[in-house]
Amino acid sequence: KHVVVLMGGLSAEREVSLRSGEACARALEGEGFRVTRLDVGLDAPQRLAELKPDAAFNALHGRFGEDGAMQGVLEFLRIPYTHSGVLASAAAMHKQIAKTILAAAGVPVPAGRVLTRLEAAREHALPRPYVLKPVAEGSSFGVFIIREDQEHPPQELSRADWSHGETMLAERFIPGRELTCAVMGDRATDVIEIVAAGGGWYDYEAKYAAGGSKHILPADLKPNVYQNVQELALEAHRALGCRGVSRADFRYDDRPNGSGELVVLEVNTQPGMTETSLVPEMAAYLGLSFGELVKWMVEDASC
Ligand code: DAL
Ligand code: MG
Repeated sequence: KHVVVLMGGLSAEREVSLRSGEACARALEGEGFRVTRLDVGLDAPQRLAELKPDAAFNALHGRFGEDGAMQGVLEFLRIPYTHSGVLASAAAMHKQIAKTILAAAGVPVPAGRVLTRLEAAREHALPRPYVLKPVAEGSSFGVFIIREDQEHPPQELSRADWSHGETMLAERFIPGRELTCAVMGDRATDVIEIVAAGGGWYDYEAKYAAGGSKHILPADLKPNVYQNVQELALEAHRALGCRGVSRADFRYDDRPNGSGELVVLEVNTQPGMTETSLVPEMAAYLGLSFGELVKWMVEDASC
């Protein structure tokens, strides 16, 4: 079987995708597939039409790779591909649209509002503390946590070279713990708690630098909470119409006098697949090697 691994691409998450793509390509070769690595540029549709692979392994993250655009190209070319289809990808990538769909399905999400990045730079979008994030970005690019004592909104938002889109989402900040749970096919994986190094938050550095964060698997939660996370990950995956692998990110306020709320922040339809990423770690915990995981994903590919 000839598999093209789509990697790199044109988004801010290009470097992460190159790492995901390289890890997946190597693992697929180890499983006996013939692999072509394709660094996705403007000629990608033409290159795919020429290569005519049996399947495309989508290792892209962010704009054009995770938002339905590349999925549309693959549908058009009738090339089976991994992960979610056009509609689920587009809906999940837009955090506000995803939240609307999730809320309608009864999945708890944080309250928030959308505004332009210049509005967000001018005055506080919500009572502090709150979070500001680009509505369609990944890997924590362009995310700000505005604390109680921060007088002005982040001025970076008004920069002429701002590159994370014009629409921002402001959300109530939920104190507490960071949890994540993936779905593979029709079952939820185990739950990981993420603890950023130095008590910071799970920013780009914490996500990708060695020792930037600690993963606790299985997360130390009461059994009913643990199960609730798994059920919500599965419900979110289904509500958005995802396929193959997705990963839902959560906040859980379990402080002694906290609200106790558990909310879904977002669903990632193209979760990180680097050697140290969360999904491969969850698969390993279920007894599935990295090679077995990517092999299953290719066999599950469709268009
Ligand atoms: N956006 C990154 C790759 C993730 O969600 O894992
Ligand atoms: Mg994300």
